[in-house]
Amino acid sequence: MIRICASEDVPKGTAISADVDGTQIALVHGEDDQFYAVFDECSHAAVALSEGEVEGCTLECWLHGSRFDLRTGEPTGLPATEPVPVYPVEVRDGDIYVSLTPSNGVTR
Ligand code: FES
Repeated sequence: MIRICASEDVPKGTAISADVDGTQIALVHGEDDQFYAVFDECSHAAVALSEGEVEGCTLECWLHGSRFDLRTGEPTGLPATEPVPVYPVEVRDGDIYVSLTPSNGVTR
């Protein structure tokens, strides 16, 4: 797993964008207090999901409003229909680590 940042760098209810070995990920601190990582591009068009709104354990695409479940990568509403890759996250000693092997089997 690759260290991204300290957990305090991502306040609850926000998302940041990070380059992990050439893969852009959106690292999210959900309102359920869990950390999530997804590929930082909407499956509908090439828009950064990290710039969208966090709600609960979902992230909303700011362009057309599709909301992605951060546990599964699945959109919960149109216009996006395809899931985004979800990456495993671990918090160890106050630092956040991500693996680039998608946990939901979705590749980009
Ligand atoms: S670009 Fe994300 S919903 Fe259209």
